[in-house]
Amino acid sequence: MKFVDLGRQYQSYRHEIDSAIHEIIKKSQFILGKPVEDLETALANYVGVKHAIGVGSGTDGLLLALMAMDLRPGEEVITTPFTFIATAEVIALLKARPVFVDIDPKSFNLDTGGMRDALAARQKAGAKVRGILPVSLYGQCPDMDEINEIASEFGLFVIEDACQSFGAGYKNRMSCGLSDMGITSFFPSKPLGAYGDGGMVFTDDPEKADMIKCLRVHGQRARYQHEEIGLNARLDSIQAAIVLAKFTHFEEEIKARQEAAGRYSELINQKIPEIQTPVVMPDRTCVYAQYTVRIPKGLRDQVTGFLKQESIPFAIHYPVPVHLQPAFKGLGLGPGSFPHAEKAAEEVLSLPMHAFITPEEQEIVIDGLEKATGVAWTKQLK
Ligand SMILES: Cc1ncc(COP(=O)(O)O)c(C=O)c1O
Repeated sequence: MKFVDLGRQYQSYRHEIDSAIHEIIKKSQFILGKPVEDLETALANYVGVKHAIGVGSGTDGLLLALMAMDLRPGEEVITTPFTFIATAEVIALLKARPVFVDIDPKSFNLDTGGMRDALAARQKAGAKVRGILPVSLYGQCPDMDEINEIASEFGLFVIEDACQSFGAGYKNRMSCGLSDMGITSFFPSKPLGAYGDGGMVFTDDPEKADMIKCLRVHGQRARYQHEEIGLNARLDSIQAAIVLAKFTHFEEEIKARQEAAGRYSELINQKIPEIQTPVVMPDRTCVYAQYTVRIPKGLRDQVTGFLKQESIPFAIHYPVPVHLQPAFKGLGLGPGSFPHAEKAAEEVLSLPMHAFITPEEQEIVIDGLEKATGVAWTKQLK
């Protein structure tokens, strides 16, 4: 069994994917042009925004978005300590400073309750906070309306790190189109994945869209006329064609993922009450980039040891919160700084999840988990 079975997906759409790739090679249309534009149009329409700009990866998209916001050294951006490193990394790359706010333990997303206090404290300290960079973790958005409201009170921008949540719904609107900008990733294992790196930036703002288009090709608008300091951060045309071919099946795939998640939750709630299943807020839909449960502190590592023995795949997203990563030791934030994020890092466990997982495979995972928790409890009692 695989954690994400991309081979099965390829077998299902093989003809469409192969012919999309061959078309690009036949036309030698390798850099930008129609393949990228077609995907940009299709995804902008799907999200319901005016502009989509294909970029080299989710990380590139986040970096370009912050550059387009003209984030300067020494300025600050509020974000979550419980995410993939890229979210905070792009802030630090621009010599700005990530200011972490703890997560809501139920949804694993930024706790909007703590945000006003954090902002007031930073303002009092004379800091220049420019924006909020929330993450829609595991495929579910945080409370974006509340975040936008706080941002407008404090005069901040909001950029949604939607690298895990393309296709997720929030109050009948779509992730990526809920704030100033939204960025998604086409990393192969994402719900809408390429066969390499890729990403997209979404915005309704024509000036920001134009700036990102300019920055992704070395700051040029006309050939060899460089108006900005940019980088090479284009979406590869072959990747764009692959993503467009897969996009035809995206809605069915989301449905399959949601059904698989429902099946997992039902089985776990029936059989293993000590494991906490994911909570999806009533006004949202989740695309389950990860199906992530919580296992009480102390038990998780024993459970993973057993799963390894049984060759049942799993992953931990993420074992070390960002503020405790060596790369961010300069921030001087030790253990205890963000208790909910730190507890989550000790308790989360992601189970195999993709659109092609079968109920039989899910039962194998759950049986393994049931045995593993039994073994773990017995060891703890000894
Ligand atoms: C929350 C989050 N942000 C950013 C990224 C970076 O995306 P990419 O790998 O496409 O650069 C990822 C990808 O794993 C992610 O999960």
